Amino acid sequence: MTVTVRSFAKINLGLYIGARRADGFHDLRTVYQTIALHDVIRVKVGRGAGIEILCTDSRVPCDHSNTCHRIAERVLDELDTSGKVTIEIEKRLPVQGGLGAASSNAVATMLAMERALKKRLTQAARLRIAAAVGSDLPLFLVGGTALGVGRGEEVYPLPDLPSLPLVVVTPEVGVSTPTAFADWDALSAGELSSAPPTIRSTRSPGIPAADAIELTASRASDRLFEVGRALSAWLTAKDLPHTGAPVRNGSRAGSLLLDLVRTGIENDFEKVVFPQYPELRDIKAALERIGAVYASLSGSGSTLYGLFRTRAAAAAAVQRLSRQGLIARPATTLTRAQYWTKSLVAGR
Ligand code: C5P
Repeated sequence: MTVTVRSFAKINLGLYIGARRADGFHDLRTVYQTIALHDVIRVKVGRGAGIEILCTDSRVPCDHSNTCHRIAERVLDELDTSGKVTIEIEKRLPVQGGLGAASSNAVATMLAMERALKKRLTQAARLRIAAAVGSDLPLFLVGGTALGVGRGEEVYPLPDLPSLPLVVVTPEVGVSTPTAFADWDALSAGELSSAPPTIRSTRSPGIPAADAIELTASRASDRLFEVGRALSAWLTAKDLPHTGAPVRNGSRAGSLLLDLVRTGIENDFEKVVFPQYPELRDIKAALERIGAVYASLSGSGSTLYGLFRTRAAAAAAVQRLSRQGLIARPATTLTRAQYWTKSLVAGR
């Protein structure tokens, strides 16, 4: 039996990088949000042994370095079983795009293997295995809107943002996440003498910017603490729609999102990625110009997204960006329930 799973992407609604830890990872705070763009993963378990990855996209490694391969090994071990596992990756999402595709592919593989083997892992085992393969994997075991802390692997479901229209722009460049973290360290240590020129100057009082200041370990952790406070204030605000309060700014979605945007969310990776790829900064500016409520780099990029108030506004934005030669796609954010309902492709 072949089990087919949609492997959805994520965006980051704000991403704050703290100090480099003793294990080489960085503490961070982020709000993850799953979106309705996906790869497709097909898993078959037959007689024999070994793990085979099939993918026609030459940018995707088909050896043991593939996250799907790495998770498959662990799933077989954990379930104390064997078999010949064939994993087909139908690539639709960008590679090294900041949309978490490789992480999502791995989680989809784990869930599909459980079905193919007719065995279940405990949720604790799934989370443990996912975190061992990569920091961005556990969020795909939660879906919807989720808070990420620690190195990003510690995830907590948040009250879902309602489904929102967005536009996803995928530039041709791929950005290496480890390199982006290393560049952040260099920037924080003041080693980059020329500060990036376009750091936002208009800010809400909510979250302190790192800007081009030197971040000592304690300042970095103070800043993450502030970020946590601002996010907590957002979540506990009296006028959040889920508390049954009045709706402002036209729609519930707009209201809740604007509350989050007002906390001053930003993605620290922009400060190291934009100076290296100025065209990405231009795309963000273009998204803002054509009416995005909020535009940002996702993860370490190179994907940028813009959130829009209506599907019509998002569709118009896609047309305008496409005319400029950009690869722009319309999408919506996925609530937790939508994420789980749509992930499994029945009867295949
Ligand atoms: O966990 P993942 O495999 O996605 O991380 C890839 C690399 O990104 C790590 O080896 C590390 O260099 C960097 N990283 C980090 N801090 C994090 C997450 C990732 O420094 N919170």
